[in-house]
This record gives sequence, C-alpha cells and structure tokens, in this order.
Amino acid sequence: MNSQTLTPLSATATSADRVPFIRLDAAFPELFVEIMEVVERVGRDAAFTLGPEVAEFEEQFAAECGTEYAIGVSSGTAALALVLRAMGIGPGDEVIVPTYTFIATAEAVSTVGATPVLVDVDPDTACVTAAIVEAALTERTRAVIPVHLFGRTVDMDPILDLCRPRGIKVVEDACQAHSARYRGRPVGSIGDAGCFSFYPTKNLGGWGDGGALVTNDAELERDVRLLRTHGESPRHNHQLTAGTDRLDALQAAILSVKLRHLGDWNQARRDAAARLREGLAGSTVVLPAEPAEGEDHVYHLFVVRSADRDALRDHLDAEGVSSAIHYPTPVHLQPCYAGLGLGPGSLPVAERLASENCSLPVFPAIEDWHIAETVAAVKSFGNGSDDR
Ligand SMILES: Cc1ncc(COP(=O)(O)O)c(C=O)c1O
Repeated sequence: MNSQTLTPLSATATSADRVPFIRLDAAFPELFVEIMEVVERVGRDAAFTLGPEVAEFEEQFAAECGTEYAIGVSSGTAALALVLRAMGIGPGDEVIVPTYTFIATAEAVSTVGATPVLVDVDPDTACVTAAIVEAALTERTRAVIPVHLFGRTVDMDPILDLCRPRGIKVVEDACQAHSARYRGRPVGSIGDAGCFSFYPTKNLGGWGDGGALVTNDAELERDVRLLRTHGESPRHNHQLTAGTDRLDALQAAILSVKLRHLGDWNQARRDAAARLREGLAGSTVVLPAEPAEGEDHVYHLFVVRSADRDALRDHLDAEGVSSAIHYPTPVHLQPCYAGLGLGPGSLPVAERLASENCSLPVFPAIEDWHIAETVAAVKSFGNGSDDR
C-alpha cells in the first residue's frame, strides 16, 4: 500500500498555545485536500450506500488485517452485536467481558439478549488474562471478548488455548488497536472475529461513525452481511429480521484514503509515547507498562496513573495541557448494569485504575513543544508549584 509522508500543519501557526488532547485531519493540509476530493466524488456519483467505495475499502482493510473478509458496518458497537448474533449467541448465554472498557463491549452482549459476565483486569496491562477468564467460565459461557485496550495487544494465545477446546468463541474488540501486531499477527485476525470502530478519534477514524468486522469464517461473513441490511438476499427477499447497520460509502471512501497512512501514524504514536516515557521517567506518575516480547502497543491513548489524579488534571489544565479520563467508571458500576449485582469493591483492580487514570495527549500530528510542555507540566505536579 502506498504511503506518502504527510507534513502536519504547525499548531502554533493557527492556534493558541494550549496543548490539545487531539488534532484530527485538518492538521494535515495535503490529506485534507485529498479527502475533500473523494467527498466530492461520492457526492457526484450519488452512490451513498454500499457499492464500490465500500467493497474497495473492505478489500483493503481485510488485507491490512490479514483476514479473508472485512465487512463494513455502521459502528464498532454494531460490529460487536452483529457478530455475536451471527454466532447464535442470545438469551441464556454468557459472554465474558472486561469491566474496564468502553461500555459498548458489554452493551453489544446485552443487545443480543445474552448476559455480560464482567471480570476484572490485570493491574499492569489493564487487559484480561487467560487466568481471569478461566475463573469466570461456566457451563453457559459461549464467548469471550478480550479488549486490546488503549492500543495494547492482549496476550491472546493463552486465551485461545483455553477457549478453543471448549468451543467458546473469541471475539477481539480491536476498536482501539487498528493494525497492532501480536506475535506477528494483526489484531482482529487472531480470534474467531475482530471488531473495529472508525469513530473519528480512533487510530483509523472516519468523518462520522463507522465500523468493521474481520474474520476468516465464511459463514460468519455471510451472516453479518445479511444482518447489516435487513437480512436481505437477494433484493426484496428478507431471510432474517435485522436492521440498517451499513458502513456509508462516504466513510468508506475517506477511510480508504486514510488507511494508506495508518502504519506511519501508528509509528508516530509509538515515537511520541517513547518520548513521553523518556521525559516522564522518575516523575510521580505511573507510566503504562511497556508491551512484552511479541506484543505491541499503538497508543490510541497514553494513559498514566496517579493516586492524586484529579489534582494532577487540574494542574495540567492550569499549565495549558489538555487531558482526559478513560474511563472514570468501570462497566459494572454503571447504573445500567446495577442489575448484575456487582457493587463497589467487587472488581477492585478496575476500580482502582478508573480512579487513577489520566490520558495525556498523543496523536500523529503531535509536535515537539506539545510533548515538552506535557512533560514539564506533569513533572512540576506536586513540587510545590501549584496554587492549590
Ligand atoms: C473498546 C471499544 N469498544 C467498542 C467501541 C464502540 O465503537 P463505536 O463508537 O464505533 O460504536 C469503542 C469506541 O468507542 C471502543 O473504544
């Protein structure tokens, strides 16, 4: 795939002296022009749903993921729900999901009428492990959804070793880890299926909502294609009741342009993360653990920890550095899952991570001064320079 090097527009030329949390495509003027051209093309062709733009993107994305198939759908949440339904998972079934994730991972399980079994995560990686999954298995477990959280790859092989002999499906939630590699294999291609989000801020993001499912399983591919458009095949014949869950042609056309840069952008994120690590060594915050041998991290987010997180964020804000929290409340403590009966203290690692995490700026167009100011602001936290 061709990759042309893009020069980011200097943020100092256009914007204030605050370090932003993220800058999207307007940061790359050449890319912006290219995207506007495809927007115009789609508008003139007036082929807005499915068609060649979607088919072409699916082919390219399957190649990127090293899978036979990619199916463009309306969001990452839709990808997760459609694949669970295509697997025949529903009422009475259990699906194991980490509680420390974006709500959508669990929501997809609830959407198909199955029960999300929320489990704790490893304190270093913030991801599930085979041991955690094993402790939650029951007769009713039909699937596990490991989440490659923040862009870090989950240690997948022990989870597959546990699940495959038991006939338990493994669905990768790769919504935050486009093109990360685990033991040489792209995420999404390791389990039975992989789900991606193209929400605008993702490592590969569209100009609106979008998602994809990747798999090597021809039956799953066929069924998800049916499910994304009213179970229709052939035209005017509906094999299943489903809904409207297609990827828009406009999003597909934009994503095809951006896919050519994904490798460079992931590397830019890794480079920025390395510089943040170097600068922040010896500071008061806990840095994200380095990926182990054979594992990867594409730094969708660079998440540090501080026992005094809220004060740290106030300090960063006062110093002109933007930050965010991913996520302040684990899924088991969300009001919508109160019925599961998992109260405070039940999944303590996730609860601690949720109270300590602080996401620092990391994005492909990040500039030297963004990193320098972020490092300086974090390092001056707690050294008496605050007005608190
Ligand atoms: C881990 C994870 N899973 C699922 C999703 C859902 O994706 P979408 O917002 O495209 O529905 C997201 C996106 O926010 C996510 O980060």
